[in-house]
Amino acid sequence: LRRRGEEPDLLGRTVVVSAGGTREHLDPVRFLGNRSSGKQGYALAEVAAARGARVVLVSANVALPDPAGATVVRVTSAEDLRRAVLQHAPGADVVVMAAAVADFRPVAVASHKIKKDDAGGVPDPIALERTADVLAEVVAARAAEGRRQVVVGFAAETGDASGSVLDHGRAKLARKGCDLLVVNEVGDGKAFEVDHNEVVVLGADGSFIEVPEGSKRAVAEAVWDSVVPLLHP
Ligand code: CTP
Ligand code: CA
Repeated sequence: LRRRGEEPDLLGRTVVVSAGGTREHLDPVRFLGNRSSGKQGYALAEVAAARGARVVLVSANVALPDPAGATVVRVTSAEDLRRAVLQHAPGADVVVMAAAVADFRPVAVASHKIKKDDAGGVPDPIALERTADVLAEVVAARAAEGRRQVVVGFAAETGDASGSVLDHGRAKLARKGCDLLVVNEVGDGKAFEVDHNEVVVLGADGSFIEVPEGSKRAVAEAVWDSVVPLLHP
């Protein structure tokens, strides 16, 4: 039996990992952002490098040291991240979208700081537009170009009246068309900004792997364990 990390089972493979959270600027000093710290994505990059992969880490607004052995590409907005991921995806054996990518961005970005007036007024409501879905584009490009590539998505879900965390995860996996979806339950201090994580890895083939609560590094090892059997020989 192989002990985790003992075998360089990603040797000769190139992987692209996106991590962190994108920022959509409103003006030169303000943005719409999210709570992703980048810790899970960085752990994925670090573990992939330790297992022998050439790693391109597309990092959105993360305050963590560069993982050993990874090439780090820094981005700010969803559009920046999209360009970087699509640039590096064609040569990659695996693309892992661990970043929290903005779904909406302001239609207009003010070129000067939005100022208060003396009359106590507020600015107009912020009009938003949709961003591109990077994961969906990677899946579409893979099909269009006949790439043999493993594509992994992440989803932070809460249960609600329309379904459980897993119901939403299964629906999202089908909608996105990726091979694996790593689902974690958020809310109550879970997942964000913490060092541990508990996930379920859903496979397009119907597989379901529960990864017990552990460090983000342990979760990263489990995700790569699920990716390796899907790689082309
Ligand atoms: N994702 C992406 N581009 C976007 C939004 C999300 O590539 N514009 C990726 C994320 O990196 C993640 C996966 O899609 O791997 C799922 O993200 P999530 O926000 O859970 O899904 P959405 O399709 O945006 O659905 P919603 O936020 O409405 O749940
Ligand atoms: Ca989203």
